[in-house]
Amino acid sequence: MTQRVLTGITTTGTLHLGNYVGAIRPAIEASREPGVESFFFMADYHALIKCDDPARIARSRLEIAAIWLAAGLDPERVTFYRQSDIPEIPELTWLLTCVTSKGQMNRAHAYKGAIDANVAAGEEPDAGITMGLFSYPILMAADILIFNAHRVPVGKDQVQHIEMARDVAQRFNHLFGRGTDMFVLPDAQVDAEMELLPGLDGRKMSKSYDNVIPLFDGGAQGLRDAIARVVTDSKLPGEPKDPEGQALVQLYDAFASKEQRAAFRTALREGLGWGDAKKQLFDLIDGQIGGMRAQYEELMAHPERIEEILQRGAAKARALAAPLLAQARAAVGLTPFTAIAPSTKVEKSAKAALPLFKQYREGDGQFYFKLVAADGTTLLQSQAFAGGREAGQWVSRLKTEGAAALAEAPVEVLGDAASALAQLQAALES
Ligand code: TRP
Repeated sequence: MTQRVLTGITTTGTLHLGNYVGAIRPAIEASREPGVESFFFMADYHALIKCDDPARIARSRLEIAAIWLAAGLDPERVTFYRQSDIPEIPELTWLLTCVTSKGQMNRAHAYKGAIDANVAAGEEPDAGITMGLFSYPILMAADILIFNAHRVPVGKDQVQHIEMARDVAQRFNHLFGRGTDMFVLPDAQVDAEMELLPGLDGRKMSKSYDNVIPLFDGGAQGLRDAIARVVTDSKLPGEPKDPEGQALVQLYDAFASKEQRAAFRTALREGLGWGDAKKQLFDLIDGQIGGMRAQYEELMAHPERIEEILQRGAAKARALAAPLLAQARAAVGLTPFTAIAPSTKVEKSAKAALPLFKQYREGDGQFYFKLVAADGTTLLQSQAFAGGREAGQWVSRLKTEGAAALAEAPVEVLGDAASALAQLQAALES
């Protein structure tokens, strides 16, 4: 069985070199492995949680889609789509929301972090926190479960979310799976690579540290300028340098072969100047991403091409999502009435439509019975009996013998009593 690998990128900004090395490049490489079925998407519903600037959202999802494609994603091989094009995802989100305990969501890092920040600032704990932020992990669980993904490559900060997705899946399976595993329990895959790339100042490359090297933004010159700002020690050209722990060297490593890495270190130990080292780093990176950048610019000039690819991706994704959602809906009891199993339907409607014997006593002190159709019309009216017992005996004879007893029975037939009795007999036998 193929392994389904799924990952999403929240579309609130553009991507930097760290995102490329940590997420895009390994994901595309993994998607080329045999036996792997990959799902990559723009998490644009997640973006709405963090950003209320429509222009920024619109721009970001286009850029990120173009980046994936320029970096070599093959949309024929990979299921590539926008989260917001798959209505099955928010639908499943609700079904999952109904089996997720609030207490568990209270413990989500992102939510707790926001609370802590509010408290530290002397605010109300929930100040400015939306239900979107609170429910974020459930939407993410739906992203993953709707495609029954086995593996989810993510950064460390997202591992808790994958664990929550597992829990929610398990709970749904337990409550509604009727012994089957409707949802696959996903595993987080945290690659060491994803954490490694340092930024300009040597800390992890991150927008929040303002230390990023842009991936395509600003063109080749933007890349050159950023590399020029990578912090080094102040050793002069000709002085031997210790390559270990240098951000510049780690950046070089992320793009270099084993031989190149060794040669770069040797050159630094032998006195290579930082200026020349930066030029080598630029040449190395630009040699790998220069062609992608040209592709990216071409795609950005033709958003209609990206749109077409994503429309096809959405159709492919929905073909898988729709049947699973239908299964989940049915499991919780949301089925079309026509889909109720025919046997129960007939039985139930027959029962509901069954004619009925009514026994009663009139003001004259005499006992009577009558047969009434489901719609209330009287089909048969008995004569008067002195005792209730005799009336009762006739009722049971009519029930068991059906129309055959009609001729002898002391009754007046007013409607289609014969077929009503046949119906009763059949119901009795079933
Ligand atoms: N929350 C992820 C992030 O911010 C993005 C994301 C959304 C995601 N849905 C996902 C990642 C499903 C993996 C699987 O990085």
